[in-house]
Amino acid sequence: MDVAAPKKRLAIFGAKTELEVMTWNWPITTQTIRIHDPIGHFQSNDAQSVSSYVHYFGVPALDSHRYNHFSFRDDMAETHSIITPAIMYWGTPVVLITTENEDGTTNIAPMSSAWWLGHRCVLGLASMSQTTTNLLRNKQCVLNLSSDDMGHYINSIAKTTGSPVVSPLKKVLGYEFCKDKFARSGLTQQPSDLVRPPRVTECPVQMEAELMNSMGLMHDLPDRRGALLALEVKILRTHVRNDLRLPGHANRIDPDRWRPMIMSFQELYGLAPKSTQSKLATIDEEKYRVITRSDVVKQGGDMDGVNSDESAAHDEKADCVDSLLVIGNAPLK
Ligand SMILES: Cc1cc2nc3c(=O)[nH]c(=O)nc-3n(C[C@H](O)[C@H](O)[C@H](O)COP(=O)(O)O)c2cc1C
Repeated sequence: MDVAAPKKRLAIFGAKTELEVMTWNWPITTQTIRIHDPIGHFQSNDAQSVSSYVHYFGVPALDSHRYNHFSFRDDMAETHSIITPAIMYWGTPVVLITTENEDGTTNIAPMSSAWWLGHRCVLGLASMSQTTTNLLRNKQCVLNLSSDDMGHYINSIAKTTGSPVVSPLKKVLGYEFCKDKFARSGLTQQPSDLVRPPRVTECPVQMEAELMNSMGLMHDLPDRRGALLALEVKILRTHVRNDLRLPGHANRIDPDRWRPMIMSFQELYGLAPKSTQSKLATIDEEKYRVITRSDVVKQGGDMDGVNSDESAAHDEKADCVDSLLVIGNAPLK
């Protein structure tokens, strides 16, 4: 059977505008390729010619300050390219964060640069936002997690700020001042137990939190230093809608029922169903509690475990805490 040779592509990442490619198989031929883009592609229908002798000559490319070395890649070009994304929003949950304004009213803002470790959450926020100003002043907030059916609420307060002074960047991005984002969105408030900012009733998960630490980012860029902050908050109390709880467990969420809203490159998504059975999920969640010390520092919900099979897990964990778990060399105490 006559099988056509696979087409191979040679991607050229270099500072040159011309390349001479000489095929290695008989008859030997040469071909000059002009590259108008710093990333040029040469396609050959002869698989062997791609592993050919390649040498380059020519004038420097316009963009030589960015592509100042020459290299070529065989096959790789089919699957990967080099890009410089303006944003790196790879997909994180959308949090509606509530904070208290100086006049005692509540501000609410969507954000999604948020990740959790233990019972701490690290928030990535622009320093110019009203939320940041409030959080640094009051040290309190509620992280209200939105579900994937809450897009209309999020959109209704997107591109708004609670700060009366709209920063030049936000003006360029089309933001406007909105004093009462609850009125605008139709979202409603519930009092919190431990902090002054209220919870958002419509959000299935609400976490009352306290600011523990903050760090300005981009110290290597003097004119941007501190424009973005990483804020470490401690979760004081977690409220969850009952239908998300895993039956038979006092303190667990059923991941099949929790449908968070995810922001990926400014677009909003839900989660697809579970794709793979997770090996990590074979670990008993309670075994992580030692890291957070949430059995020592009491939190709302801890006592729910009494009379359930999880109280037994607690006792077993208490026995092994000292001997088993260390982070680095430091005992977790
Ligand atoms: C879905 C979504 C996610 C966002 N994520 C962030 C974020 O992680 N960090 C941030 O500083 N701003 C984020 N923003 C932009 C803020 O909402 C924006 O800065 C807003 O003006 C903050 O409101 P405030 O000034 O009243 O605090 C996000 C906006 C939307 C709609």
